Amino acid sequence: MMYRKLTRGFGLLILLAMSASPSLAMEDEIQGLMLIIEQRLEDPAARQEAMRAGRNRALLCSYCHGNDGNSVKPDVPNLAGQNPVYLLDQIGKFARGERKNFVMNSLAKDFTLDDKVNLAIYFARQTVKARPQDEALAASGKRLYAQRCVGCHGERGHGTAEYARLAGQRPAYLRLTLERFRAYDRGEQQAAENVRRSPIMESIAARLSDENIEVLAAYLAGLE
Ligand code: HEC
Ligand code: HEC
Repeated sequence: MMYRKLTRGFGLLILLAMSASPSLAMEDEIQGLMLIIEQRLEDPAARQEAMRAGRNRALLCSYCHGNDGNSVKPDVPNLAGQNPVYLLDQIGKFARGERKNFVMNSLAKDFTLDDKVNLAIYFARQTVKARPQDEALAASGKRLYAQRCVGCHGERGHGTAEYARLAGQRPAYLRLTLERFRAYDRGEQQAAENVRRSPIMESIAARLSDENIEVLAAYLAGLE
């Protein structure tokens, strides 16, 4: 009981610190979001309410991401099964305009923190439908993944709070996203309405060939 109170207080402190000092390390920001999600999930009644409210809000998303977070368009990411902290973090990035996509920016900026938490919890608890791809491509993707990606995104691509889940993701979205990270390193022209920066992923994508990207997407899209 005492411990719970302590962690609650700690979460609030982190939130206050985050708003006071934008220069706090990324890990601290992720820690803060993690506490918010954990608190909502630990109480069964609060969790049920989050799922209900999240499902309602998700109507706004279904046209692109599907009712159950399995996207209905190739270049739109699946949200089902994604880590809730990662989802919450990305919605926050759209809301602040740090990540740019016209629809996502306008939707996200009108949401309250509660809306964002509920949406993240709702989508994270849906099941993603993997789509097996060409076996030979997937097999070489698997080898490359083990060498270059597994350390952050995990053994089966399930990700963590900080590192996105990649398993079962749409192959076209994976290719597009990796190409966009790589384009920054190459100094290629970027559309201003499509900004996504990640120093880590930019340096990793810089070392990927078109063929590397193709096989990685084939492997990851088929992973459950
Ligand atoms: C008109 C289509 C459309 C609608 C409606 C839409 N999205 Fe998106 N969403 C996208 C696209 C496209 C992207 C990928 C943008 C990019 O390439 O960076 C995206 C990305 C995301 C991401 C980042 C996922 C990741 O893997 O990084 C989240 C989270 C998200 N959307 C949540 C939502 C939520 C929640 C709603 C409803 C409130 C919603 N979206 C409605 C098109 C849409
Ligand atoms: C050192 C850690 C690290 C390694 C290694 C790494 N990633 Fe990432 N990856 C990240 C982080 C952090 C993000 C989230 C970036 C953000 O916040 O937008 C990410 C995001 C991504 C995304 C976007 C996911 C989404 O839903 O939009 C893709 C795709 C991706 N990584 C693929 C890969 C692949 C493929 C490899 C191996 C070639 C790899 N990553 C290796 C840290 C890593």
